[in-house]
Amino acid sequence: SPRRRQMVVANWKMHGSFDFCRAMIPALGRAAQDAVELVVCPPAPFLATVSQLALGTGVTCSAQDVAELPSGARTGEWSAAMLAEVGCRYALVGHSERRQHHYEDDALIAGKARACLLAGITPIVCIGESAAERERGETEQVLCNQLDWLMSTPLWRQAIVAYEPRWAIGTNQAATPEVAQATHALIRAYLAQCDAQAAARMPLLYGGSVKADNAQQLLAMPDIDGVLVGGASLDIAAFLPIYSAA
Ligand code: G3P
Repeated sequence: SPRRRQMVVANWKMHGSFDFCRAMIPALGRAAQDAVELVVCPPAPFLATVSQLALGTGVTCSAQDVAELPSGARTGEWSAAMLAEVGCRYALVGHSERRQHHYEDDALIAGKARACLLAGITPIVCIGESAAERERGETEQVLCNQLDWLMSTPLWRQAIVAYEPRWAIGTNQAATPEVAQATHALIRAYLAQCDAQAAARMPLLYGGSVKADNAQQLLAMPDIDGVLVGGASLDIAAFLPIYSAA
């Protein structure tokens, strides 16, 4: 199978400060290795600072969100081109917290992914089912529908997909490695129906209660190419063992 990029992504969500950035980025930089990309998603006000602090350290920078439009009267938003200008390489798109608290739907999320791809930012497109959907046996249908939206986007082959089951986010109830692997295999198989080569190359990340004690088993799975870490990314002692597990 083709070699896929391995990556560990720290999603700080709405946490942190200048002092936190100034302490965290050099510490992460000392741990970063070429073989596994280390990506940090700070809150938007700290993106420029983090990207400066990260220069030459091997740490790369991602936004947590981005606008669908390239520019315009959209108070409170920022474009993918602006992210590129401050040195971001990635943007999270469609995180379940954006879907839930900011009413983002699949059409908007596909538009955001498109805006990123056109501006040279790699979107990390988050998908995932709720607990109720999994219990009703609708997981495959929900994920395939979310993937259909992604695959309707030009240049989708250059995106990254993050599988974050909603029941696993912030709950300390990570998917078991077996459930995560089976779901990633399903995602890759569905992408392969559209483009086998692109599916084989695309990094698929798992997110949801990734901790030092489950990262290694998750990352050992053949279709899990990296992890997206929330809570455990805020503490260097919790995060570095996760990074080392990759
Ligand atoms: O984007 C990562 C996230 O949603 C997972 O959060 O706190 O369960 O690791 P957490």
